[in-house]
Formats: sequence, C-alpha cells, structure tokens
Amino acid sequence: MSFRDYIKKLEKKRNLIRIKKPVSKNLEASAIINELKDKPVLFENIKESNFKVSANIFATKQLIADYFGVSVQELLEKMLYAIENPSEPKLVKNAPCQEVELPIDLDKLPILFHCEKDGGNYISSGVCIITDKEYGQNVDFHRCMQISKNKFSVRVVEGRHFDIFLKKNKDMPVAVCIGNSPNVLLAAATSVNLGQNELCIANSLEELNVVKAKTFDALIPADCEFVLEGIIRENERHTEGPFVDLTETYDIVRDEPVLEIKKITCRRDAIWQALLPGGLEHKILMGMPREPTIFKKVKDAGINCLDVSLTPGGCSWLHAVVKINKKEENDGKKTVYAAFEGHKSCKHVFVVDDDIDIYDPNCIEWALATRFQADSDLIILKNQKGSSLDPSADPKTSLTTKCGFDLTKPLLVKGKNFEKAEYPKTNLKYFLD
Ligand SMILES: Cc1cc2nc3c(=O)[nH]c(=O)nc-3n(C[C@H](O)[C@H](O)[C@H](O)COP(=O)(O)O)c2cc1C
Repeated sequence: MSFRDYIKKLEKKRNLIRIKKPVSKNLEASAIINELKDKPVLFENIKESNFKVSANIFATKQLIADYFGVSVQELLEKMLYAIENPSEPKLVKNAPCQEVELPIDLDKLPILFHCEKDGGNYISSGVCIITDKEYGQNVDFHRCMQISKNKFSVRVVEGRHFDIFLKKNKDMPVAVCIGNSPNVLLAAATSVNLGQNELCIANSLEELNVVKAKTFDALIPADCEFVLEGIIRENERHTEGPFVDLTETYDIVRDEPVLEIKKITCRRDAIWQALLPGGLEHKILMGMPREPTIFKKVKDAGINCLDVSLTPGGCSWLHAVVKINKKEENDGKKTVYAAFEGHKSCKHVFVVDDDIDIYDPNCIEWALATRFQADSDLIILKNQKGSSLDPSADPKTSLTTKCGFDLTKPLLVKGKNFEKAEYPKTNLKYFLD
C-alpha cells in the first residue's frame, strides 16, 4: 500500500484530521503536528506551497501494525523475519513518483521550518539512496537543511554507511525519497552489513516496486511521493543546524556536506510527508528496528525472550525493556549483557518477568519498586561507547556509563510473595446503569 493509500484508509476509518484552513510551513504546521501528538493529519492548504502536507501517519505502533494488518505484538517478529530474509523488489518501468517533473526551486516545496532556533527549513522524512560500485546500494535517513533554492547541507553521522560511501566516492549522486510507507521507512532505519540493500528488507516486510532513478543508476521506491535527485560533495561544506534531535534537545551546528539538487519529480497531486523531529513518529522509526536485534541476541544467549520495547520516555533509543520467561537465577543479568549487544547505543536495560506490561511505565516502575535490590540486581558498566544522541554522554567520544536493572523476581522466594494479588471481577455496567 502506498503512503497516500494508507492516508485514504485512515480517512475512511475516521482516523484522519483534515485541516482546510491555510497553514504556514514556518512554525505553524509543526506546532499543529506537535499538539496533535499521535493523530494523523493532512494539511490541505499550505500558504507557501501548492502541495498538501501530511504528518503523524505512522506515529504509533498501532498505526504501523494496522498498515501491515498484524497486531502490535506481531510487529517485532515481522521485522525480525524481514531483516533475516531480505528479498529483491520488483523493477517497474513507469513509476508514480516520476509522473511529474518540477522546476528546481526548493522554495516551492513545503519544506517545514519546525522550531524557532532551527538553522533552517528541513526535510526530516527523506530516505536517501546512494550507490557504490563495490558495495551496491545503501538506504538510510539524513536530515537535509535547505540553504538555497537548489542546495541542502546534509547531516551525515560519522562511520555510518553513507559516510563510508561519501569518503570513498567524494562526489556522489543521491536520491532523497519523500512520502514513503513503513516498509521503506523501517528498512531505512535498520543497521545492516555494508553491501546489503535495505530495500530488500522493505520488500520482505511488504512487496515493493522500484524504478530506476532519473539521473543515476539507483533503484528507488516507485510509489513514494517526491524524489529529489542531486550530487553530494564531500569537500563542499556548509553549516548544518541547530536542529532538534531525537532526544528533543538541540543538536549542535556542524559543517556538513552540501547536496545540490539536479532533478525533482513527484506524483500528480503529491503529498509531502512531514516528520516532527523528536516527535513520536521519529521515535517509533528509530526504536522499532532495534527491538528485533535485541530480541535475537537475548534468544541467542539461551534466554526465553518474550518481548522487547524501546520506551518513548527513553527517547525510543536509550532505554530498552526486555520481558523474559526466567528459568535460571542468572537469566536477568545475562539478558542485560545480551541486550546491550543487540543495540549498542542503548544506555539502560530493564529486564522484567512475563507478568509485567512492558508498554505501561507504571507497571515497569512497580517491578523496580518491588523486585529490585540495587546492591545485587544492578549492573554498572563504566566507560562504554554510548549514543552520540545522548546529551549526557561525553560530547567528543560518546563515552557513557551503561546500567542494567534486573527487575525479575528471584526463582526461590524466601520472604514475602512477589505476585500481584488478583482483585475480584465484576460487571460494573450492571451497577452503574
Ligand atoms: C527519522 C530518522 C532520521 C534520521 N536522521 C539521520 C541523519 O540526519 N543523519 C544520519 O546520519 N542518520 C540519521 N538517522 C539514522 C540513520 O537512518 C541510521 O544511520 C541508519 O539507520 C543506519 O544506517 P547504516 O547502517 O546504513 O549506516 C535517522 C533515522 C531516522 C529514523
């Protein structure tokens, strides 16, 4: 299903807010997206552009599960299957994303200015596709700050595959694809081995059509809404930032490579996909692909892992809650080490028993309050390589202290019981009517 087909489906289910009044792309659209939190929205009238803008379309796991036609609980296994069983997308000759060619004037596009201190207008939902003779195709996200009518400065985290490709190729063609469905979005957010095309993971999540890009030899999602093709140059630099990061704090200003746009194509009546930086959708897309990698490492360590959640309170990146069926006394601690293996940027891991609802922060805190003793159940790992996104980690090296909380109850109970008591059930409706 394409991005626009899902928007139509949401509207049919009365799960879409249509805003007909004129809205500015400067601070106004982002304010509305933020206030709506996880409610999908379509802006029909953007003051500075002829294009519609949509946001929050995949802002919850439930919205993504509904898209794939599975339950929220089934998402982790679906992701794991796709990562382990990538398959080739179908190549088509004519693609909706190339129906219309636009003049190269970025001011005409609804590229939002999100927050007051931002360095500029930003594309934040752009899936960037690059190629290399040796490694093939790479697909990932890079925020793009508009610096002129035809140029962006692009945030490239050091060491990422994009960075490796760029250092090797110096000048490199890029296709920035906007208006994607979650198979492409989630695949773009996975970290795979160098040389693995993430669009094959996308195809395994849901069948995907690809088409040849117009200006270079890359295969891009045929059904996306906009494609901005251009050349990124390692040696041409421009300031990028400040910009709000995943942690809802401001990222610093850096000199980043410049992307010059050479061609813009889109669908007829194309819909722009906005993504609020630090918002729920950003968090979901970052965190979801790490849940299966943690799950797998915990299973590989011989633990009966039941579920994993990267909690929104932990920026869906720094905190993992792992639910296990504990069989041996040491399982909780083994799970902590395995979880850190499965997601290297994670800072705090909480391991809970199968009676804890890992989507309910109160329930997790209850386990911390009733099943945890800091002197024996806490693992502290000093001087670890942490996340570059964590404002409390060392700004130069990202070194951090990691912590594991074993919140599982002991197998051998010596004193009080650890079970939550069951209250009697009733038919409340009968008494209230
Ligand atoms: C919404 C979103 C925005 C992102 N923005 C950036 C970015 O601006 N720069 C960057 O290097 N990585 C960004 N990432 C993370 C990359 O997608 C990440 O590097 C990728 O998952 C790893 O790909 P790789 O294994 O091919 O290096 C973003 C991820 C998401 C989900």
